Amino acid sequence: MSGHPLSNPERRLLAAMQGADAAHQWNIEAILEACGWNDQARAAGAALGLVEAGMAEVDETVQKNWVLGAEGKIALEKGLLESRLWDWLLKQPEDGRGMGDLQTAGIVEKHETGIGIGLLKGLGIRIEKGSLTPPSETSSVDEEIARRTAFLSDVKDGELLEHFKGRKGLIQSTDSTSRNWRITPLGSAATELEESEEVVELTPEMLQGEEWRDLAFKSFDPELKATTPSGGRPHPMQSLIERIRSIFLEMGFSEIGGDYVQTAGWNMDALFIPQDHPAREMQDTFYLTDPESMDIEQPRLDQWRSIHEHGGDTGSSGWGGDFSDEVAKKGLLRTHTTVNTIRHLAESPDEPCRVFAVGRVFRKESIDRTHLPEFHQIEGIIMEPDANLPMLVTTLKTFYEKMGYPEVRVRPAYFPYTEPSLEVEVKWRGKWLELGGAGIFRPEVTEPLGCKWPVCAWGMGLERLAMLVLGLDDIRQLYISDLEWLRQQPIL
Ligand code: PHE
Repeated sequence: MSGHPLSNPERRLLAAMQGADAAHQWNIEAILEACGWNDQARAAGAALGLVEAGMAEVDETVQKNWVLGAEGKIALEKGLLESRLWDWLLKQPEDGRGMGDLQTAGIVEKHETGIGIGLLKGLGIRIEKGSLTPPSETSSVDEEIARRTAFLSDVKDGELLEHFKGRKGLIQSTDSTSRNWRITPLGSAATELEESEEVVELTPEMLQGEEWRDLAFKSFDPELKATTPSGGRPHPMQSLIERIRSIFLEMGFSEIGGDYVQTAGWNMDALFIPQDHPAREMQDTFYLTDPESMDIEQPRLDQWRSIHEHGGDTGSSGWGGDFSDEVAKKGLLRTHTTVNTIRHLAESPDEPCRVFAVGRVFRKESIDRTHLPEFHQIEGIIMEPDANLPMLVTTLKTFYEKMGYPEVRVRPAYFPYTEPSLEVEVKWRGKWLELGGAGIFRPEVTEPLGCKWPVCAWGMGLERLAMLVLGLDDIRQLYISDLEWLRQQPIL
C-alpha cells in the first residue's frame, strides 16, 4: 500500500466510485465516462493507483480470442487443402484419380499430399485400388467444405473451432485481459477527495517569486516503466571517438591524421624497430602486394641505415647487422598510429607540439573475445622543452579521469622506440586492465628527425576502452550490427 496522497485522477475516480453502489463493477469504459476522460491510460493509471492504495480491488479475466493464422490467410485466398483436392477430383475422369495423377497434377505441394488425403478420407472419400473414389452422394462433402470455408472467413466459437485447433497454422489465439474494479471499504471511507491544484512544471518565472514554495506539485514516479524512444543516432564507437576528441581538444591538443597504407620504413624503421623484429613478420603485419613497395628518399634511408647499423651520431651502438632499403620500402597497413606522430615530427621537428590521433590500425590477429584484426588506437605526443615522464603520466591520468576512470597506474614496459617505457593500466570493477603503452622517444628516433626537445608519446587501444565504457566482455559485440543491442546503448 503506498503512502503518498492520492493524485487528482485517483481522487476523481474514487469520488465517482463512492457515488455508486459499493458492489458496482467498473470497467475502463465506465471509468472514462464517469470521470469525463478520453484517455484510457489515465483511467487505468488512476485505477491502478487506487488498487495500490488499497482503496479498490481488481478482477482480471483473460479471454482467448481466435483469429486467422498465416496458413489460414493463404487458405482463404487459394482455398482449403481439401477444397482444392475435391475440386480436382470431381473434374477428373474415373481413370485419372490415382495417386500418381494427383502427384503430377501440381495442385498441392508435395508435403501437403499426405495431410490432404487424410482430410479427404475424413470427408468420406475412399481409396480403392490406389484410386481416390468419391462417395455416391457428393453433396455432403460440398456442404462440409463450404461450412469450413465460411468458418475461416469469420473465425468464432463453435463446433468447427475444435476441428481447426487441430490443424496447423490455420487459426491462432491471442489473449486479451479485461479488468473490472470495485471499491473497497477503505475506499468507501476515504474523505477529502477535492482535487487540488497541482503544478506540473516549475518555470523560471515562478522561481522569481516565493509563492511556488506553497504550491502542490504533481508527483512523478521515476520507477514507472516507459518505452525507450528509438531514433537514429551515432554508433556508440563514433560517440566514444567524439568524446575522446573533445577531451584532448579541451586539454589543448590538436588532431592529426594519416594514411592506412604506409611503408615499413615509417611504420617501423623510423621507430628504431629492428628489421628482424618478430612483430614485422607476416604473421603480425599485413604486407601489401599493391603497392608492394613505395619510394622513400635516399637520404632518409641512409639516416635509418646509420642509426640501425651503428647508432648514427646518437652515441647508441644501434642494432648492428645490415640495414635493407628493400625491407624499409615494403608497403603495409599501418600496425599502429605511432606512424602518424613520427611523420608529424619529421615534418615539423622544431615546433613544440601537443597532438593526438584516433585512427584505425591493422594486425594479423585471430579474432576472439579480446582481439580484432582491425581496431583503433588513441595516440598522442607532447614535444616541448620541459616534456618529461611525470608530465606524460599526469596527461594520461587526466585523460582517463575525464573519461570517468580516476584510478590509473603505470608499470615499466618495453618498446624499441621509447626509454623509459610504460604500460598504462586502469582500474575497472576492482581489476587493473592494461590499456596501452607510453614512454619518451629514444634519441635514435628523435635525433635523426632533428627534434630539439624530449617527446612524450603514448598509444592506447580504443576498443579496450569501449569495452569498459559499455561494460562488454566480448569486443566483437562492437561491430556485429546488433540493432537491438545498439538501441539499448547509453548516450555517450
Ligand atoms: N605503438 C605502441 C602499440 O602499438 C604504443 C606506444 C605508443 C608505446 C607510443 C609507446 C609510445 O602498442
